[in-house]
Amino acid sequence: MLEQTLATRGGVLECGSGLSTVLLATWLAHGDRPLLALEHDPAWAALVESRLPTASRSRVRVASVRLIDYGAFTWYARPSYADGPYELVVCDGPPASTQGGRYGLLPVMARALAGDVRILLDDAHRPAESAILRRWEIEGGFSTAEFSDGAKSYALLTSQATKADAPPGTRAPNPADLRDDREATDR
Ligand SMILES: C[S@@+](CC[C@H](N)C(=O)[O-])C[C@H]1O[C@@H](n2cnc3c(N)ncnc32)[C@H](O)[C@@H]1O
Repeated sequence: MLEQTLATRGGVLECGSGLSTVLLATWLAHGDRPLLALEHDPAWAALVESRLPTASRSRVRVASVRLIDYGAFTWYARPSYADGPYELVVCDGPPASTQGGRYGLLPVMARALAGDVRILLDDAHRPAESAILRRWEIEGGFSTAEFSDGAKSYALLTSQATKADAPPGTRAPNPADLRDDREATDR
């Protein structure tokens, strides 16, 4: 995660907050990069926010948002201010028990992702995450590199279509079929 934080320059989006949020906020504390962490558990969001380094508070936000039903999947409610562009996404939520798991990142946030976005997906060894990777590769034109220490693994997705020609910070092409603008139903 540190390597990818150093390799990117723009906004960071995190899905599922925790120690990783505090680490990211610490690494970003003395720059001007914004960090938005989406968190479905309000008490956990408040606790994580209380542990953020003071120097990062103006640019780091732990957004306590509900999980909502988008029809084909359930994912975080997108805050109105979450418009990116995000150059790095750390994807470690919502919980595996959520319908569709982490899949919703791409359809819900496609327009907020930079053209050269890098996505770190935790737990890439699990069957559900592996299936999500294959869908994102097809639907988002990403290529994937997987890393493992034996017990745990993660994947790094990079945009095949745009990494050669999109300057940093530009938005990803937005295939209309990635968007799910159907009216979401609050849970
Ligand atoms: C797998 S955790 C990962 C959080 C973060 N990315 C990290 O690595 O520190 C994902 C979710 O689990 C929940 N969670 C994690 N630790 C928790 C704890 N100690 N108490 C309550 N909820 C927790 C939070 O809702 C969080 O969004």
